[in-house]
Amino acid sequence: MEIQTELLILLLTGFPLSHTIAQTTDTTSLSSTIEDVGVYHVCQAPALGIQSSPNVLRSRSALECGRQCSQSAQCRGVTVCPDRGVDGGVLCEIKEVMPNVLCSHDNQPDEGCYFMKKDDGYIAPSSPTGQPAQSVTTEMPCQNGGTADGDRCLCPLPYAGETCNRYMRDCTEGFDNGHQTGSSDGEYLIQPLTSPAPFVVMCEFGYGHGNTQPLIRLYQNSPPWSNKTWSDYKNGLGISNQQIPDRECYFIGLDKLHQLLDQANYSINVFAMYDHGGQKTASFYMDFNIGNESSNYELRYNRFFTKEDPGGNGFHYSPSESTSFSSYDHQPTNCASASANEKGAGWYGPHPGCYSYSVFEDPPYWPLADDTAQQMEKILFNVHRDSDFYED
Ligand SMILES: *[C@@H]1O[C@H](CO)[C@@H](O)[C@H](O)[C@H]1NC(C)=O
Ligand SMILES: *[C@@H]1O[C@H](CO)[C@@H](O)[C@H](O)[C@H]1NC(C)=O
Ligand SMILES: *[C@@H]1O[C@H](CO)[C@@H](O)[C@H](O)[C@H]1NC(C)=O
Repeated sequence: MEIQTELLILLLTGFPLSHTIAQTTDTTSLSSTIEDVGVYHVCQAPALGIQSSPNVLRSRSALECGRQCSQSAQCRGVTVCPDRGVDGGVLCEIKEVMPNVLCSHDNQPDEGCYFMKKDDGYIAPSSPTGQPAQSVTTEMPCQNGGTADGDRCLCPLPYAGETCNRYMRDCTEGFDNGHQTGSSDGEYLIQPLTSPAPFVVMCEFGYGHGNTQPLIRLYQNSPPWSNKTWSDYKNGLGISNQQIPDRECYFIGLDKLHQLLDQANYSINVFAMYDHGGQKTASFYMDFNIGNESSNYELRYNRFFTKEDPGGNGFHYSPSESTSFSSYDHQPTNCASASANEKGAGWYGPHPGCYSYSVFEDPPYWPLADDTAQQMEKILFNVHRDSDFYED
């Protein structure tokens, strides 16, 4: 709070900032210049709070909040409130209409919320010598054991974000943040953008550029899954850990799968083994997506292909007809059956013949390159992110 107060006083007096504020040796810093921040007057705002609206942003500081406002001609000012739980962070509401507040030059922000009015007559100040304004440095401490490295934080697994303030959104983000050796492979918490809570996945960093895996792991001769319910598939089945000796099947669950795949473009890699592990196939899907529960977890992808060890396409999806998830107790397609000698739960199109392979059949089946069904000893679904996250 001390640093913010000093900054605001400098901003409201409009003095050119000829020195750097808030430099400490054990924190990372971010630079911004006075030109893109502008001059703000702090206003008396006794009962001001933040409305829940799309105009509310999380910011590192009041300075950052002011910068957001300065980038918009419509913005008249910002309401700034402490962001509880985030050290030094603020909630920032962009206001296009001036609230009913009294603005004065000698008002100092207290511990609660306050309003910063943008100076309409603002012209970027220059120093007395005519030099461009100096840069302002605000404090940005790294959290959760992160260490400062120039103008960014290096985050330990499983953390990510500018100040290591959140969980990584998938394992690829951990790889992108520099965790690129096999010795880091293991189970970690991730929290996709729309997930209400973090959950555990296996991450592989040393090979494959940060795979989140497996989403699905199926073994022959494991306890049958054909009679699992919609709610079982929705919430997930089995245990993720690869080290389990008795080769347990695992499925991350339809809700988590949807949340994970919904935040960016992902490729799904399906690896299957048969003939005592001597033969294997690989099938790849690009831009693979699963809808939410209202769509019966509708499956979509943009492109299917194979490379070495070519495998078949186990999902007969076409853009013109929806492919929905079915379990014996929830049957948008009438394909899944609880009886072990019929098709198990899985994604099916509307065809009466139920062409797709049931991923969760007992034992598991997946097609070879010539499209003949093959009973598999092991099937693995892994995922890799191909784009930036869809936020912003
Ligand atoms: C499910 O997805 C559809 C299409 O994206 C969306 O319109 C709908 O609001 C979503 N429903 C829920 C409950 O999130
Ligand atoms: C599947 O489970 C349901 C509910 O527990 C039960 O009624 C049904 O008989 C089971 N079917 C088979 C084939 O096990
Ligand atoms: C996602 O992938 C599709 C096709 O693969 C592409 O058209 C689209 O631009 C991609 N989106 C992003 C954000 O990368």
